[in-house]
Amino acid sequence: MRKIYVFDTTLRDGEQSPGVNLNTREKLEIAYQLEKLGVDRMEAGFPAASPGDLASVNAVARAMKNLTVIGLSRARETDIDAVKEALQGAADPCIHLFLATSPIHRQHKLRMDKNQVLETAQASIRYAKKYFSKVEFSLEDAGRTEYDFLAEMVGMAVREGANVINIPDTVGYLYPSEYGAIFKFLKETVPDIDRVQLSTHCHNDLGMATANALAAIQNGADQIEGTINGIGERAGNTALEEVAMALETRSEFFGAKTSLVLSEISRTSRLVSKLTGMVVPGNKAIVGANAFAHESGIHQDGMLKDKTTYEIMTPETIGLKESKLVLGKHSGRHAFRDNLKELGYDLSETELNAAFARFKDLADKKKEVSDEDILALIEDKLIDT
Ligand code: KIV
Ligand code: ZN
Repeated sequence: MRKIYVFDTTLRDGEQSPGVNLNTREKLEIAYQLEKLGVDRMEAGFPAASPGDLASVNAVARAMKNLTVIGLSRARETDIDAVKEALQGAADPCIHLFLATSPIHRQHKLRMDKNQVLETAQASIRYAKKYFSKVEFSLEDAGRTEYDFLAEMVGMAVREGANVINIPDTVGYLYPSEYGAIFKFLKETVPDIDRVQLSTHCHNDLGMATANALAAIQNGADQIEGTINGIGERAGNTALEEVAMALETRSEFFGAKTSLVLSEISRTSRLVSKLTGMVVPGNKAIVGANAFAHESGIHQDGMLKDKTTYEIMTPETIGLKESKLVLGKHSGRHAFRDNLKELGYDLSETELNAAFARFKDLADKKKEVSDEDILALIEDKLIDT
């Protein structure tokens, strides 16, 4: 099985979610949990952004003993110096340089031509290499960059000694087959490409971040970048838990896995949601409250007979106790009887029929029928008869 390295950027790109601001104590708490989750690399922040972020990155860098801590930097010396300061005391420091390469960014944002972009990037890698043995270089908006310029930039970064080269779909624009094709093209055309690791970094503007990351893995990416719960700029980043579980559940298809401790996924998701204030939608894949909940009678009946009928992975794998059979208007007798048994009632067939009819009446009026509702319904009935 090929190992896919996990680069977590919850503390950097994740913190860029509008409305999110993590202080040093909160960053540290998340960092310790990410360490338990087993991420290989952790981007702790953007030190040049503010003195507070520089201090937080430094606290995380000093605290993490068994993983690589990364600081983000634009392709300029002052930013690189800030990362150098922030990563003092790190067991395994790495700098993450980025510069935009697409025509839109070159023309409207950087106001640079291709040569200026190439030379600026080259100078920044050279400068960073004086202080860091590990350098990642990102071609921001690679997804909308011309193929020949991508190859030129990646070739330069390989020659300058970058260790990881990241190909972001910064604006979440590409379709999986298009994104995968870029990795295939780079692997086939750039000399000595195997000297570096290729990385995927996707945004979710069209809801394709996970599919795009998986397409990149299929086409030779060695590393995935993403965040817990998929938080991040605009519609967010690739949700790491989704990629890890897709690789786990379909390992025969992908032939690749992360080394995440999957049973820590649920706990990590809850902590990130609590500290960032970003609520996880109920129907969110893997970590949403409904991801392992079943409401309809047909599904509940299947689940009670054999869980593989409606679950492709077990809740225990991600650290949850069990699946939930939620009682609502679509639920059937089988799940109702099962629920009653758990509550300590073993009713006769006639009692069950009467109780089930009362339950259906109630379920028509409520979205979800709780254990307390069932108890009230049964006890009323017992008093009536
Ligand atoms: O989305 C992006 O391109 C980024 C870069 C800084 C890697 O976050
Ligand atoms: Zn990003």
